[in-house]
Amino acid sequence: MVSAASSSKLSEHNISSQPHAWSLLANIAALPLSFAIISLISFCTLLYNKKTALNQSSSERSSNAVPFIVFQEPDWTLLHKSAEQYRTHNLRLLQTLSQGLDILLFNKELTNLDNITGRLQNRIDRLSEIFDQDQDLLQTQVFVPFETTYVLPDGEPANSTNTFSSRTADHSYDDPHQVVAHIVRDWTAEGKQIRRQLYDWCLSKIDKSGLRIMVPGAGMGRLAWELARNKHAWVEALESSVGMAAAAASILQRKQSGMIHPYSSDQLSNEVNSSQRYLRVQYPDVDDLSTKQGHLSYTVADFLSLNGVVNNQSKFDVVVTCFFLDTASNVLEYITMITKLLRPKGGMWVNVGPLQWHQKSQIRFSADELYNIIEEVGFQIMEWGVDVAPIEYRSSDKVVRSTHYDAYCPLRFVAVLK
Ligand SMILES: C[S@@+](CC[C@H](N)C(=O)[O-])C[C@H]1O[C@@H](n2cnc3c(N)ncnc32)[C@H](O)[C@@H]1O
Ligand SMILES: *[C@@H]1O[C@H](CO)[C@@H](O)[C@H](O)[C@H]1NC(C)=O
Ligand SMILES: *[C@@H]1O[C@H](CO)[C@@H](O)[C@H](O)[C@H]1NC(C)=O
Ligand SMILES: *[C@@H]1O[C@H](CO)[C@@H](O)[C@H](O)[C@H]1NC(C)=O
Ligand SMILES: *[C@@H]1O[C@H](CO)[C@@H](O)[C@H](O)[C@H]1NC(C)=O
Repeated sequence: MVSAASSSKLSEHNISSQPHAWSLLANIAALPLSFAIISLISFCTLLYNKKTALNQSSSERSSNAVPFIVFQEPDWTLLHKSAEQYRTHNLRLLQTLSQGLDILLFNKELTNLDNITGRLQNRIDRLSEIFDQDQDLLQTQVFVPFETTYVLPDGEPANSTNTFSSRTADHSYDDPHQVVAHIVRDWTAEGKQIRRQLYDWCLSKIDKSGLRIMVPGAGMGRLAWELARNKHAWVEALESSVGMAAAAASILQRKQSGMIHPYSSDQLSNEVNSSQRYLRVQYPDVDDLSTKQGHLSYTVADFLSLNGVVNNQSKFDVVVTCFFLDTASNVLEYITMITKLLRPKGGMWVNVGPLQWHQKSQIRFSADELYNIIEEVGFQIMEWGVDVAPIEYRSSDKVVRSTHYDAYCPLRFVAVLK
C-alpha cells in the first residue's frame, strides 16, 4: 500500500503543469474547512490536488473530515520504515524472551522447571499474537499515506523547497512507539487524566470569541481538535512528523477506530505485573469526531518552514505550545517564529510543557532564563509557574505499572505581545 502511493508520487513540476490545477482555487474556497488554510497562506496561490491513497471513494468519506495540508509531497517511505521498525523491535523482544527460555531449559537444578518455562512460553505466545494484531493495524490503518491538500507558494511552485527551508529532518517522532504512545495520550480513556491536566488548562486560558489559533507540534491532534470544538475558533494544527500525521489522519480524516496494546513492546525492565503488558485499549474515546462548530486543519510541515508563509493578513490570535518548546534545536528560532505568527499587540502565547531539551538542542535555557527572554522579545507575562506535581506522559491510572517512574513537572505560562 505504501509503495503504491510512492510510485504515484508527483513532482511539483508535474502538479504545476496540470492545466486545471490553478483554477481549483474557487473550489477550495467553497469548502468551509479550507478557510483556515486560505487565511494562513493568504498571499499564496493555492494549488489543490487530491491524492487518493485510500480505497474509499470520496463520496464515502465524511464531508467534515479534517484536511491535511502539505507544501510538498511527504516522504511516504517514512511510514513503511516506521512499520518495519515496530516489527524489528518486537522480534528482538521475542528473541530476548526465547533466549531466556533456552537458558532455563538447560538448568538441571530447578525442580519446578516445567512451571517456570511454561509461564515464559505462555508469555512468548501471547506477545507474538498481540504483536501480529498490532502490526496488522499499524500497517493497514495507521502508517498509510493520507489524503493531502497541496498548498504551494505563488511564483515559484517548482522550487518550493527554497521557500520552505528543508532543514535536516528529524525523524525521532516517526518512531512507532512514540506514535502509539501519543494515540494513548490523545485518544483513549487511559489518557484522559493527562489531557485534563494539560489540554483543559490550555482551553481555560483562551477566550471563546472568534479566534485564529495555531498549535505547533500538534502530535495526534487532540488539543487542536478540542480547541476547534468552539464554534468561533479557526484552528491550525502543525506537525512535522509524517508518522504522527498519518496516525492523526487515520483518526481525524478517515475516522478509523482500533484496538491496540500500547504496553506490549515496553522494555523488559521494571515490570510490576507481567499481565499488564497485554492490556488492550480502544481508540478513539469519542463517538463523534466531527468538530461540527469550529474549523480545524492539520498542516504537515516544519514549524520553522512557515517563514515564507505568514504575512500581515494571516496572523494568529493565539499560539498554543504543549510539550513543544523543548523539541527545538534553537529555541530562540521557535520564539521568533511565535512572535511572527502572532497578531501584534494582544497576540497570546499559551505554553505548557517541560524543558527536557531534545538531544539536538543547541541552547538549553532554564525556566528563569526563558522568562527573561520572553519578556525581552516583547511579551508581557501574565502567568508563570512550574507544576509541583509530576504528570505522566502516556497514560495514568491507579495501578503501579513500573518500578521506575517517568513524569514531568511542566512549565506553564501565558504571555501576551505588547
Ligand atoms: C513531545 S511531542 C508533543 C505532541 C503534542 N503536543 C502533545 O502534547 O501530545 C512534540 C511534537 O512536536 C513535533 N515537532 C518537533 N519539532 C517540530 C517542528 N520543528 N515543527 C513541527 N513539529 C515539530 C514532534 O514531531 C512531536 O509530534
Ligand atoms: C506447577 O503448576 C501446577 C499447575 O499449574 C501446580 O499444581 C503445581 O503445584 C506447580 N508446581 C510448583 C512446584 O509450583
Ligand atoms: C530551482 O532551483 C534550482 C536549484 O536550486 C535552480 O537551478 C533552478 O534555476 C530553480 N528554478 C527556478 C524556476 O527558480
Ligand atoms: C496483574 O494484572 C492483571 C491485569 O491487569 C490483574 O488481573 C491481576 O490481578 C494483577 N495481579 C496482581 C498480583 O496484581
Ligand atoms: C506588515 O506590518 C509591518 C508592521 O506593522 C509593516 O512594517 C510592514 O510594512 C507590513 N507589510 C506589509 C506587506 O503590509
